[in-house]
Amino acid sequence: MIGSRDAERAWEKAREVGASGAANEDAISDADLVVLAPKADAALATAAALADVLGGTPLLSVASELRVTSVGALPGSDPRSLAERAQELVGAPVVAGLHSLAAGKLAHGRPDEDAFVCGDDAGAKGLALELAAKVVAGRALDAGPLASARALEGMTAVIVNLNKHYKGHAGVRVTGLP
Ligand SMILES: NC(=O)c1ccc[n+]([C@@H]2O[C@H](COP(=O)([O-])OP(=O)(O)OC[C@H]3O[C@@H](n4cnc5c(N)ncnc54)[C@H](OP(=O)(O)O)[C@@H]3O)[C@@H](O)[C@H]2O)c1
Repeated sequence: MIGSRDAERAWEKAREVGASGAANEDAISDADLVVLAPKADAALATAAALADVLGGTPLLSVASELRVTSVGALPGSDPRSLAERAQELVGAPVVAGLHSLAAGKLAHGRPDEDAFVCGDDAGAKGLALELAAKVVAGRALDAGPLASARALEGMTAVIVNLNKHYKGHAGVRVTGLP
């Protein structure tokens, strides 16, 4: 189910991928897991606006703040992650993840990389890991508590800098885990 501020816009995207579309409020009203994926500077306002409809449904934040500067891409300037700040705005358990997964790659199947998910609520994290495992060819990895979202969101800037420097499409694979 794809949500948008505009139901028709949601349906346009949904038709492209064989899904259903609805206005954000309707899209989340019957969900098991809601993915918070508006552009990053709208993530907190969107979470706050949907808090009542969301109720206790787990929220997976994939948003990363990014500052483009003359020395390269930098993470957002707030020491706390967007996900931690979103947790203060909604009653539902917030988890964070999938930041290192480039949307463009998903059009070509499951990319050969791992995905990270972090959070403080075991049930919500389990659902997000289940989703993450479906979209990458690698592993969906539990990256610890919600505070790990600071590092995961920050990794987006690293990936942007790698892509620019090496003119590539970086993804992440973790070694050394059983
Ligand atoms: N692109 C990637 O590869 C990637 C990878 C990992 C994580 N992310 C994260 O995923 C999120 C979405 O990325 P994206 O590339 O899809 O961004 P985007 O195309 O710029 O925006 C996604 C959607 O955000 C909604 N939006 C825009 N302005 C808004 C506002 N003022 N209030 C509420 N909603 C607004 C729009 O949906 P409607 O107009 O339909 O409501 C828009 O289609 C970002 O937070 C990003 O950090 C992206």
